[in-house]
Amino acid sequence: KNYYAVVPAAGVGKRVGAAKPKQYIEINGQTVLEHTLNALLKAQLFSEIIVAVSAADSHWQQIALLQHPQIRVVEGGQERSDSVLAALTVLQAEPEDWVLVHDVARPCIAEKSIHKLIACLKNDEVGGILALPISDTVKQVGEAQAINSTLDRSQLWSAQTPQMFRYQLLQQGLQQGLAQGLVITDEASAIELLGFKPKVVEGLASNIKITRPEDLTLAAFYLSQITE
Ligand code: C5P
Repeated sequence: KNYYAVVPAAGVGKRVGAAKPKQYIEINGQTVLEHTLNALLKAQLFSEIIVAVSAADSHWQQIALLQHPQIRVVEGGQERSDSVLAALTVLQAEPEDWVLVHDVARPCIAEKSIHKLIACLKNDEVGGILALPISDTVKQVGEAQAINSTLDRSQLWSAQTPQMFRYQLLQQGLQQGLAQGLVITDEASAIELLGFKPKVVEGLASNIKITRPEDLTLAAFYLSQITE
């Protein structure tokens, strides 16, 4: 089976509070997008890496790495899932081929985590995701910032990326989410819509999603530590 990577990079990243989308912010001399793409290229696994960018900005046009022969750029969509679907549409993949969707905002992904995900799932019918057991106690909060309930932490994991699924199932799941008018925030939830139970593979806490300004400092630290 072939392996493909899809990188949704069409978000505007408002929460980080910078003048440009977070994927174009520089950390240790490279943009977040370049760190993420270099991590995927380094794994030497993918027949092709499809990057969905926003037509609303031109930042991506300055990134020479996007002209790499293994990389193809497509125009993303309104929501993350629209961007992923746009990328899947241009892939000439077989139904059973694997697609690893990886957020552009997770530049600290370790090569060993990508290999672990694949080693754990390559014989699976459906696929699964990197995830981390939750260490905080999680509250369900209602009106007036009042706690309604406390969730059972022993059953909770934070979903990370890459999320690895069979090409055809992933496309079907995302299309179903679209048809039902749902906002799908990760690929696993699209697969769950089809009635499957994707697996979790334990990842690393360093695989943070850059969301808030302080995450940039943390990412700079982790990126300076990555040696393998
Ligand atoms: O906003 P959030 O951090 O959850 O976005 C997750 C990922 O989805 C980011 O990599 C972002 O660039 C991408 N995205 C996208 N198209 C959108 C919205 C988000 O590719 N319309």
